[in-house]
Amino acid sequence: MTVPLLRSTKVRNGAVPLTMVTAYDAPTAALADRAGIDLLLVGDSVGTAVLGFDSTVPVTLEMMLHHLAATRRGVPTAHIVADLPFGSYQSGTERAIESAVALIKGGADAVKLEGGGMIAGRIQAIVDAGIPVVGHIGLTPQTAGALGGYRLQGRDLDSARHLLDDAAAIEAAGAYAIIVEVVPSLLGKLITDALTIPVIGIGAGPDTDGQILVWTDLAGLTQGHTARFVRKYADLSSILEDAFADFASDVRNRTYPAPEHEYPTPDELLALAPIDPDA
Ligand code: KIV
Repeated sequence: MTVPLLRSTKVRNGAVPLTMVTAYDAPTAALADRAGIDLLLVGDSVGTAVLGFDSTVPVTLEMMLHHLAATRRGVPTAHIVADLPFGSYQSGTERAIESAVALIKGGADAVKLEGGGMIAGRIQAIVDAGIPVVGHIGLTPQTAGALGGYRLQGRDLDSARHLLDDAAAIEAAGAYAIIVEVVPSLLGKLITDALTIPVIGIGAGPDTDGQILVWTDLAGLTQGHTARFVRKYADLSSILEDAFADFASDVRNRTYPAPEHEYPTPDELLALAPIDPDA
């Protein structure tokens, strides 16, 4: 997948919808890539999905670089988008470019940042620095507090129009794709129809140019509540819990390790063993 190819991927022009999942480490990224997923996102959702934080706000650029490097090692040629975490682009254009450059040097093909028209200038500056950008509007987890929590966005005419304007501003700023999160399906369709760049939805209905899910959600590894838009394609939580419980039980009842897990003892080591007079 290349940026020019992605930029022109529109379902209305006959394209097959894009598939994108998050990845935070080498083996998971490799599995997703082997399964034919088009794009990987090293998302700041790493904070909630695997680092144990209760929001994405504490995630730092250093954490992102650590997980990005691991992901890149697992998929040397996949198209990787990496999130600019909260605090790495808010304070100004220069900081935004520096953070984006760090992610590209760290192995990303493109960066993603959250926000609408207000950050269009920053998107343009990063694009002008030669770095491909993906926008992200609707429910933007880094600023969920200001949006009144993790809730449906664009529910009334004013906020829906605002999101349409945001989407247009991000396209005009030079983003090559945009993620739209948790909006009514009609709004997902209207934004998709209005833009020439692909719209990748997460809880934005069936009419976008692609879909993205957090991998731990789709694999059933997320503990507790998952959002309405998540389809669970596997139940890794119970598979792993059963595996851990079976290991513990086998160790306790001494059925693990079995002979096939042992390394042979070289004859000369037998001299170390005490002689059993009854043998
Ligand atoms: O960080 C992330 O996983 C994301 C997706 C929810 C789009 O931004």
